Amino acid sequence: QKGDTDVSQRTLVLIKPDAVRRGLVGEILARLERKGLRIEEMRLRTMDADLADAHYADHVEKPFYPPLKEFMLSGPLVSLIVSGDESIPVIRALAGATDGRAAAPGTIRGDLSLSNRENLIHASDSEESAEREIKLWFG
Ligand code: PPS
Repeated sequence: QKGDTDVSQRTLVLIKPDAVRRGLVGEILARLERKGLRIEEMRLRTMDADLADAHYADHVEKPFYPPLKEFMLSGPLVSLIVSGDESIPVIRALAGATDGRAAAPGTIRGDLSLSNRENLIHASDSEESAEREIKLWFG
């Protein structure tokens, strides 16, 4: 049975290079699909420096940005547009806290990551960033 609100949102998800290297793409996609979210677009690609700087525009000046960028460029990743009722907060909750060591068991990072850099998944954090990131990745 449906709740009393149904606010469909589209959001950008990246299954990061560590997940591709570790063979966890299927596991992560399965968690999103079992939740009832819909995959609308999906593409395997390698980020380049310009896309990284644009995608992480809010973070380029932060001390953790150089290692983050090196990691994000280190191999192919999977970019997705995912939709569903309140998909933006729902996917953030499925992903868990940024640092895999602190993320709750049951979440993607809590179950599968032990790092705040190699943390398997990125998901837009607001409607504004989802719109911006979808444009950046899918035009
Ligand atoms: S902030 O400053 O609170 O907005 O940052 P946060 O949301 O925690 O993290 C933003 C992204 O930076 C990544 N991150 C790191 N990468 C490498 N090394 C370190 N130490 C580090 N700390 C944070 C974090 O995984 C976030 O990536 P995305 O792709 O946005 O999930």
